[in-house]
Amino acid sequence: MKKLFSLALALSLVLSIAGLVLAQAPSGELEIFSWWAGDEGPALEALIAKYNELYPDVEVINATVTGGSGVNARAVLKTRMLGGDPPDSFQVHAGQELIGTWVVADRMEDLTFLFEEEGWMEQFPEGLLKLISTDEGIWSVPVNIHRSNVLWYVPAKLQEWGVEVPATWADFLAICPTLKEKGVTPLALGENWTVNHLWESVALAELGVDGWNGLWDGSKAWTDPDVVAMWDTFGQILDCTNPDAASLSWQQATDLVVNGQAAFNVMGDWAAGYMVTTLGLVPGEGFGWSAAPGTDGVFMMLSDSFGLPVGAPNRDATIAWLKLLGSAEGQDIFNPLKGSIPANLNGDVTNPDLYNAYLRSAAEDWKSNTIVGSLVHGAVAPESFSSNFATVMEIFLAGRNGEQASNAAQAVALQAGIGK
Ligand code: GAL
Repeated sequence: MKKLFSLALALSLVLSIAGLVLAQAPSGELEIFSWWAGDEGPALEALIAKYNELYPDVEVINATVTGGSGVNARAVLKTRMLGGDPPDSFQVHAGQELIGTWVVADRMEDLTFLFEEEGWMEQFPEGLLKLISTDEGIWSVPVNIHRSNVLWYVPAKLQEWGVEVPATWADFLAICPTLKEKGVTPLALGENWTVNHLWESVALAELGVDGWNGLWDGSKAWTDPDVVAMWDTFGQILDCTNPDAASLSWQQATDLVVNGQAAFNVMGDWAAGYMVTTLGLVPGEGFGWSAAPGTDGVFMMLSDSFGLPVGAPNRDATIAWLKLLGSAEGQDIFNPLKGSIPANLNGDVTNPDLYNAYLRSAAEDWKSNTIVGSLVHGAVAPESFSSNFATVMEIFLAGRNGEQASNAAQAVALQAGIGK
């Protein structure tokens, strides 16, 4: 009798727990907004597949607006957010793109509770936590760490052309004529934002870590002679790029290197994701990599993150999404395909079955290098600066005058309140 009673008690306990879990399981639609369309999609799609497995009652809407580095997606997002029609969760770069745009406008929910519940305060690097936090809260969940300052090439091709991987931009400029004579584009370049992307690696190389950081904390003036000189070097580098750059996506610029039409390309390591996941190349054979010239030992980072906008239509499903995305398990699904490394320190990044040779080397550098933030991918400056920087670049491209560009950039920095 006693045995029967405890069996019944156990059964009713199990049933009530199951009932609780069921009651809490999210349902309905979940709209995830990002710019990971087409070739950029596989990592996100794999993560969504896992989410579907865990939460079969939720219908995920994978809403993408195509365009590298979010150039188009950010504009659409802005319209929706300001129109009171936020998606449930959206991609946003950790740092000023998140804080300076959406947090200051009170459009995000504080996620401190989630970080505490999930033990993430200990699972994410301190510096990264700082980047997504203000005194008032923690505002998004990072899914990865990407590196901006990477130089890509095909080792066998360099050998064929008799050139070495340039350690500095001066080295690169020295081999530029040799490559041109062979009918090879020395440096592949794509559409407008990729020009800024190249620029940030050149600026880091020419100004050094302190100079680069100084531009963003206001301790370095844009009008300093080394900044002006940097523009001139940048102009010489641009003269070594393909004339049709403006019409190429970042993937098409990568293709030029892969196909042997160009020797090098500076791009973030989503290019590794593209070359491995989409093109099926083997790191070290199909493509090689090194830090962008003059930036060895420095890791210019950026992080894709997702947040919970105020007024998200399906808050429960979104929290479940954020839990998966921040977990080591979720990050080990996403990052091997994406070309990035896990932001969660419990990610299995040394496992060669999951992470390829490029990614394992990036993870080593992430641990040992000096870390700085990317401008183009939202880490260091508010959007008011980054969007006006496009005009600074136009001024430079039109006049090729470093002093003029520096003066314009200084004005834009002042306007954006940098250093205040
Ligand atoms: C970056 C983003 C990467 C990748 C890249 C190219 O801004 O952080 O994840 O998508 O743009 O679109």
